[in-house]
Amino acid sequence: MKKVLFVCLGNICRSPLAEAILKKKVADRGLSHLFHIDSAGTANYHIGKPADARSRKNAQENSIEIDHQARQILVHDLEEFDYILAMDRSNYQHILRLSPLQRHRDKVFLMRRFAYDTVDLDDEAIDVPDPYYGGEEGFQQVFHILEESCDNFLNFLTEQQA
Ligand code: 4NP
Repeated sequence: MKKVLFVCLGNICRSPLAEAILKKKVADRGLSHLFHIDSAGTANYHIGKPADARSRKNAQENSIEIDHQARQILVHDLEEFDYILAMDRSNYQHILRLSPLQRHRDKVFLMRRFAYDTVDLDDEAIDVPDPYYGGEEGFQQVFHILEESCDNFLNFLTEQQA
């Protein structure tokens, strides 16, 4: 069983979409029983709310259903989950500040690192852009990035197993 937690700022746009995309990919491969997939936010602004209507609409247009209520990441999540995938560098740094323990910190990855050989923390291209203040086209761009990143992450897991 692999436990995967996606993390963004509000847990209403990017990370619930990533959660839904990975759940779909895993289900399509008949592997749902091997995964526990969830998402959380570093901020507390939207706790208990469903995903942003634009994220839900975007998911539906891509034949995916988001079923998630926003929650804030807890230190306990660093114990509970095997892979904690941060949407951007700001969330990544926030998660690392939650725990000084190396076994926790080793679980934290930037979502897009799986698409790059080296990760340059000065490069904005490593971030999944925050679509919250933009238009609907930003959500489709995020969808494509998340799809690619989820494929790369699943390939990474397969290589780990081999
Ligand atoms: P998310 O997007 O981190 O992808 O869920 C945001 C949602 C809400 C806010 C910012 C980003 N906000 O400032 O309320």
